[in-house]
Amino acid sequence: MSIYVQTDLVVVAISGYAKDMHSAKTSRRGPAGRRLTMRTDAPANVADGPGVVDALLDRTILFSFDRSGFQRHARRFRPDDLAVDLTGRVCLVTGANAGIGFAVAAALAERGGTVWLLCRDRRRGQAAVTAIRERTGNRHVHLGVVDVASLASVHAFVERFTPARVDVLIHNAGVLPATRQETADGIELTLATNVVGPFLLTHLLRERLAAAADGRVIFVSSGGMYTQRLALDDLQWKQRAFDGVTAYAQTKRMQVILTELFAKRWSKTGIAFHSMHPGWVDTPGVRGSLPRFWQLMRRRLRTLDEGADTVVWLAVAPPVAPSGRFWFDRAPQPTHLLPFTRERSADRAGLWRRCLRLAELDKV
Ligand SMILES: NC(=O)c1ccc[n+]([C@@H]2O[C@H](COP(=O)([O-])OP(=O)(O)OC[C@H]3O[C@@H](n4cnc5c(N)ncnc54)[C@H](OP(=O)(O)O)[C@@H]3O)[C@@H](O)[C@H]2O)c1
Repeated sequence: MSIYVQTDLVVVAISGYAKDMHSAKTSRRGPAGRRLTMRTDAPANVADGPGVVDALLDRTILFSFDRSGFQRHARRFRPDDLAVDLTGRVCLVTGANAGIGFAVAAALAERGGTVWLLCRDRRRGQAAVTAIRERTGNRHVHLGVVDVASLASVHAFVERFTPARVDVLIHNAGVLPATRQETADGIELTLATNVVGPFLLTHLLRERLAAAADGRVIFVSSGGMYTQRLALDDLQWKQRAFDGVTAYAQTKRMQVILTELFAKRWSKTGIAFHSMHPGWVDTPGVRGSLPRFWQLMRRRLRTLDEGADTVVWLAVAPPVAPSGRFWFDRAPQPTHLLPFTRERSADRAGLWRRCLRLAELDKV
């Protein structure tokens, strides 16, 4: 599965950039290289920040996104944060029949939540629901058949969905197609799945998220977004050769920006927005579709539960403020490691307008 090729490439790319930029800054300004540091400016509810060795290891990316990075970072986790009873709380997870989404849904079900697995394939989705029910003993685990890349499917799901309140909405479903494909709505598939569908679903659930005392929306982004600057000129990849890795990383950058925009524009709703990246995770797709990558990296990849950890933490732990930040291993991260990836505020506003148009929300 191409997501993982991308993950691999991104790590190489970021490591290379980080090294270059760090040595450039070192020679120009001394040893700080601050902008490239994986900052962990912990908020009040996150235990001790990293020491010098940890900060240096984080800078390598390799020893941060991998399993050793998780284990190192986990030393500052507060175990009680996840000791939460979710009984009565309604949690929605897209792309929950496999990989990280499955682990997230299982963790939420384990804590007693009413968990909806939003999956595009009924058979695979039902198998996941059955597996989670059996594993957790929680009968409040349900399937919602929805293709997040289809506007009609998202609308149809929300119309059928009866709960009056949504406590947690997790945008986990993601794709990285090798070739340019268009959905029935005429939207390039990566953009439709990773951005437009989640944008529409969030809008359609707005009142129900606001009805929750502590409504939360979480975007599962990727470290790949660090390589990209938001580019709006050819969102649909109609004017150039399609590059799946770049298209994917662009949409992951958009998720992070949209999280910030939602947090600001919807601040009066009381809904909190977070984005995060999971590091490198050993999902079934890695083993099945990328045996060479898996062979090379298998001792370094995170487990599903490790990949799911920060998503679950953002969903259940005591609220973290402010809303709109980007997280990794339960710590807030900078959204840029490289100065040239910073977008203009006009482009941020442009992204919002384009999403409204593509999701056909401008007609409402
Ligand atoms: N694994 C990593 O190392 C890694 C690194 C960085 C970021 N991420 C992000 O983490 C998220 C989960 O990744 P993963 O590794 O767990 O991927 P995965 O194993 O491929 O699982 C992806 C899930 O999304 C579902 N999905 C895809 N398109 C969908 C659609 N249109 N509607 C509904 N569901 C859809 C898939 O369903 P089907 O079974 O029907 O295909 C599957 O359940 C993604 O957003 C990815 O970008 C992962």
